[in-house]
Amino acid sequence: MSESTATALESLGHSTLAVARPLAKELAIEAEGVSYWYGEGEARSQVLFDNTLEIGRGEVVIMTGPSGSGKTTLLTLIGALRRMQQGSLKVLGQDVSALSQTGAVELRKSIGFIFQSHNLFSSLTALENVRMATALRPAPVATMNERSIHLLEQLGLGERLDHLPAQLSGGQRQRVAIARALVNRPALVLADEPTAALDAESGQTVLGLLRRMADGMERTTVLIVTHDQRVIDHADRVVNMIGGHIVSNSLTRMTVRITRALAGSEVLKGLSEATLTKIASVMTVETHPPGETIVQEGESGDRYYLIGSGVAEVFKGGAFQEELYFGEGFGTISSFFKRPVPHSVRAKTELELYVINQQDFERVLTTDKSFENRVRSLLMALNPPQ
Ligand SMILES: Nc1ncnc2c1ncn2[C@@H]1O[C@H](COP(=O)(O)OP(=O)(O)O)[C@@H](O)[C@H]1O
Ligand SMILES: [Mg+2]
Repeated sequence: MSESTATALESLGHSTLAVARPLAKELAIEAEGVSYWYGEGEARSQVLFDNTLEIGRGEVVIMTGPSGSGKTTLLTLIGALRRMQQGSLKVLGQDVSALSQTGAVELRKSIGFIFQSHNLFSSLTALENVRMATALRPAPVATMNERSIHLLEQLGLGERLDHLPAQLSGGQRQRVAIARALVNRPALVLADEPTAALDAESGQTVLGLLRRMADGMERTTVLIVTHDQRVIDHADRVVNMIGGHIVSNSLTRMTVRITRALAGSEVLKGLSEATLTKIASVMTVETHPPGETIVQEGESGDRYYLIGSGVAEVFKGGAFQEELYFGEGFGTISSFFKRPVPHSVRAKTELELYVINQQDFERVLTTDKSFENRVRSLLMALNPPQ
């Protein structure tokens, strides 16, 4: 075991929050029905509406959305920087609404915050600012010193270790703040516009670093608020927030794969790349073990599934009908197609499925004419006028 691995294990062992309870699906963040209001009395106004979000350990998730849509508010709730008002929220296995003051302080120790106002100590050098954050850790001083230097080097500040904040550019100060947030190897990183003050190259460096932390042994979970399109390449998922509502939640690395699967679908053949991508961007990914029944004949369906990998078996009236493969779909949105699920479908092998739910389906319909036309003609074929 390398020295740095040993240190990482040791520091994880001490930040017990991250490992105290093995998480069932290893979720780092579980938010359900989260609403939030600012102000009191007449001035009270709601800025978050019934938001649900699950983020798995080791995921890099990007949150986008117009200014004022509630991104920072949600981030500060997740970071236990603000009291929960409504809904439930679990972060690193801790129930945030039930946390005491000290509980919140403990939880925050497992979180690396990268916020816009970075508040470096003006009388301390870049290195000292980073090392400060390690002061209360049980790890040996020399180790933490080395780690601080290494991190600053990785962020392109190897030549600036002894500079005071006043001697650094805005982008360099931001990178010092990022090093400070990451030096204790937090289980969760919450970043609000971390690349806003950075040039393109440093932005990529920072995102590359976060991606490696997520993919590495510690499986750091990363939630980043950003408008930076280039950042999306490093993400697993994009959560879009509008007017206090999470309106979509899709797996970006997957979007390309999903688009390919959609393009292979008989039903959608011939639709433009743009339309397919639009549909793909609202689809989410599920995996099902062999033997699991995914939809049941005759039930009311609210999801449409497309196979990304694996083999599914179709049954009607209990009798086997056929196998389904990559690009083939099943299930139905009963409210729209005016019929129940026409077949039972079971996973024969492990299945990766791309799923669109009723709400997202209807939203894409209203925003894309060619998809709407395609679906209308399908509808006609399924329910011919008498
Ligand atoms: N401290 C505050 N007091 C009152 N209203 C606030 C406060 N902070 C934010 N808001 C309002 O809440 C809404 C969401 O803000 P915010 O979470 O900062 O959105 P975003 O980060 O997406 O720009 C906005 O309408 C904003 O004006
Ligand atoms: Mg904000």
